[in-house]
Amino acid sequence: MESLLSEIDHVAIAVRDLDAAIAWYEDVFGATVEHRETVESDGVAEALIRVSDSYIQLLTPTRDDSPVAKYLETKGEGLHHIGYRVADCGVALEAVKAAGGRVIDAAPRPGSRGTLVAFVHPKTSFGTLIELVQERP
Ligand code: CO
Repeated sequence: MESLLSEIDHVAIAVRDLDAAIAWYEDVFGATVEHRETVESDGVAEALIRVSDSYIQLLTPTRDDSPVAKYLETKGEGLHHIGYRVADCGVALEAVKAAGGRVIDAAPRPGSRGTLVAFVHPKTSFGTLIELVQERP
């Protein structure tokens, strides 16, 4: 069967100071931010830095009860999740469920940049939080 994962969409890094992290990528690597967005439902602000066809997603919490705030508290700054680009988020999510996997989102939901996303629990995916990302036309 053909892989349901077509590309790495983004690698998400949790940071305490979004502006400082952006400035570091700009100053050191000459990278530029392509997109910034605050996702109120997730309690995060993000900045996307393009690397070829993928992104580095710098993530910071916008409120104390955000999952990313809890992550920073317990694990500190660093790799938070990997986003895999998929043709159909629902199909990829069902494949995880059919294999007995634990999911965080029971159904695809809106993500940033107008995408459709669903998270897979890291207990299922060998310790890495996975986000399935479908770009919508
Ligand atoms: Co993400």
